[in-house]
Amino acid sequence: MIPINKPQTDEAEVQAVLDVMRSGPLTNALGAGPKVLEFEKAFAEFTGTKHAVAVNTGTAALHSAVMAVGVKRDDEVILPSFTFVATAEAVALSGGRPVFVDIDPKTYNLSPEAVEKAITTKTKAILPVDLYGFSADMKPLREIADKHSLGLVEDAAQAHGATYAGKPAGSFADAACWSLYASKNMMAGEGGVITTNSDKIDETLRMIRTHGEKTKYASEMLGNNYRMLELQAAIANVQMTKLPSFVAKRRRNAEQLTKILQGNSKLVLPYETSDCQHSWYLYTARLIESTEAQRNKLLDDLKAKDIGAEAYYINPVNTMPFYRDNYKTQTLPETEKAAKQVFSLPIHPGVNEEEIKFIGKTTQSLL
Ligand SMILES: Cc1ncc(COP(=O)(O)O)c(C=O)c1O
Repeated sequence: MIPINKPQTDEAEVQAVLDVMRSGPLTNALGAGPKVLEFEKAFAEFTGTKHAVAVNTGTAALHSAVMAVGVKRDDEVILPSFTFVATAEAVALSGGRPVFVDIDPKTYNLSPEAVEKAITTKTKAILPVDLYGFSADMKPLREIADKHSLGLVEDAAQAHGATYAGKPAGSFADAACWSLYASKNMMAGEGGVITTNSDKIDETLRMIRTHGEKTKYASEMLGNNYRMLELQAAIANVQMTKLPSFVAKRRRNAEQLTKILQGNSKLVLPYETSDCQHSWYLYTARLIESTEAQRNKLLDDLKAKDIGAEAYYINPVNTMPFYRDNYKTQTLPETEKAAKQVFSLPIHPGVNEEEIKFIGKTTQSLL
C-alpha cells in the first residue's frame, strides 16, 4: 500500500534523540530547554515571524493561542466546520463558543463573506484553517478582524512551507498554530509551535505553556503543562533542516499528478495561485456531481490497488455529537457538499515518480 502519509526520518533523527537521552536534559521546568530554544529560533526564521513558542501538540498550540488573544467564557469564535476537530476543541476548551460558518468551495477554506455575516457583539476572534496546506484568505479576514477589534488566530497545522500574498503562511495572523504530528510536512512524533509578531502574545503564550508561570511557584494566569520535550525538539531540529526539500518533493509530486489528471471533466483539482502556494500536505481533489457513495466506492477501488487514498473530515465538526448537542449551527451547504465529494491521494516525499504515475493512471482508469 502506498500510504497517504509517512514520516520521513533517517539516522540523523535517531542520533539526535540518542544524544539527548545520553546527555540530557530531557525537559525544562519552564519549557525552554536548549533544543527547544534552538527549534524556536529556526522556526521563527523559517516563517519570518518575530517569535515562535514550542509546545507539545498542535492542539495545545491552538488552545494556547485562543487563550492568548483573550477568548473567555461565552465569547464567540468564528471558524470553519470543515476541519480537524482540534480547531473547535481549542475554542471549547477556552470556554468560548464555536460559531461554525461555511467555506469557499474553490479553496475549502473559511469564506470571509460568511465570517462578516456571523459577527455579533459577542464575537471575540476569528479562527481560519489552512486546509490541506493552502492558506485561508487572510487579507480580507485581517480587515474584518481589525474593523471589529477581533483576534485572528490561524490554524496553520498543515501549512509548513505554504505562502500567502508572497509571504510565509501565518504572516497575517495575530498568532499562527502549527502541528508537528507524525504525518505533517515536518514532524516530531507529536509537537506544536505558535508563531507571532506580538511581544505581548509571545509573553502570554510562554506563561500558558507552563502553568501560567514566569518564575516557578508564582502563577500569574491560568495555564497548563504544554511544554515540548527536548526529545521532540531534537527531532524537530533535524526535520527543520530537511523541510525545504520535503516541501519541494511534495510540490514536484503534486505537479506530476496534476499533469496526469488535468483535463478529466469528473475532477476538480487543487487550487493554487503564483503568490499563494500550497504546502502540499494533502493533494485533495473533488469528484464533481458525485454522491458520498460514489466517492467512497472510488476510495475502496483505489485501496484495492494498494493506493492509500483517504477522505478527510467526512463529518463536519458541527455534526459531531458533542458539537451538535452543545452549539447550534445553521446549515452549511458548501461544507456538507465538500465533505461528501473530496478525496486525497498520496504525494508525500517518500512517493517516487513511478508511483505517482501509477496513482494518476489508476485514478484515471477508475473514473
Ligand atoms: C487542521 C488541524 N488542526 C489541528 C491539528 C491538531 O494538531 P495535533 O495533532 O498536533 O494536536 C491538526 C493535526 O492533527 C490539523 O490537521
